[in-house]
Amino acid sequence: MDIQIIGFGVIGQGFVEVLLRKERFLKQRYGLDLKVVSISDITGTAVEGEGIDLRRALEVMRQTRGIINYPGARKMTGVEAIEAFEADAVLEVTPSNIQTGEPGLTHMLKAMGQGKHLVTSNKGPLALRFRALSDAAKKNGVEFGFEASVGGAMPIINLAKVNLAGDEILAIEGILNGTTNFVLSRMAKEESPLEIVLKEAREMGIAEADPSYDIEGIDTAAKLVILANALMGIDATYRDVKTQGIRKVTPEAVKLAKEDGYAIKLIGEVRNSHLEVAPRLVPVDHPLNVDGILNVALLQTDVAGDITVVGKGAGAIETNSAILSDIISIALKRGLG
Ligand code: HSE
Repeated sequence: MDIQIIGFGVIGQGFVEVLLRKERFLKQRYGLDLKVVSISDITGTAVEGEGIDLRRALEVMRQTRGIINYPGARKMTGVEAIEAFEADAVLEVTPSNIQTGEPGLTHMLKAMGQGKHLVTSNKGPLALRFRALSDAAKKNGVEFGFEASVGGAMPIINLAKVNLAGDEILAIEGILNGTTNFVLSRMAKEESPLEIVLKEAREMGIAEADPSYDIEGIDTAAKLVILANALMGIDATYRDVKTQGIRKVTPEAVKLAKEDGYAIKLIGEVRNSHLEVAPRLVPVDHPLNVDGILNVALLQTDVAGDITVVGKGAGAIETNSAILSDIISIALKRGLG
């Protein structure tokens, strides 16, 4: 299966690392030979029909921070690379833009328009134009995998679509942002102020490029909207979510809640077409009370009852568990070797 990578930051490089690590496993278990035929970032595009030397690409990024420095790389944009080169699928992992969805939205529509399957972790375009993107996938007869856009490694989209295929999802509530959960957990343990702990989350590389997206609840709202669209058929954008972040949560409030047997968590909830993100008191023994960078989602369904999933909600390597699972499903479904 030939793949083009568009965006070569934390997640794109994490994908290449995971691919190097899993090459033999993928071949042995699935007979799958994943070949990266081009990598584009903001500086240009590296291209090799026989497959990019992935170790070299990582080395180039470590030393120079631009794929243009890969031998023979061209001054070519992601859109041009999607148009110019043959591939089975595009992995779109450029930074998420929640205001315009760009440049991801254009890359995604272009890839699908060219008959290429699409896999992404990029939330912005999905939170703004989910319907347009799933329509484009249908129209062009391509697969659209976005498990990595919500909850990092935590399986939720394919879990609901595949394992709970016969169930109706009645409501979803959960913690969908690793940064705020990390911040609130640390505030509870050490009573440190938000700004200090947020700095640490940024250093760990889990916060958004603009961390106010995490703190103000916007990232949670974007993920909630993706779940509402994908799993409950609700046609909404993140602007339809009533959103309140954790900016006003003080160490004192966290301490008082703890003394009463509660944790303060930033919870996203969709129920009866109402979408809301807000800090809430969660009893310490409740399944939604998970700590650190963990994400959790509680799905209320009509047949199975309640299902709770927990997993690492962010991280360069962990998020690629979801990306790889989408790629493997597409390869198996479409008979790509
Ligand atoms: N900033 C996001 C988070 C990254 O903290 O969950 C993963 O979407």
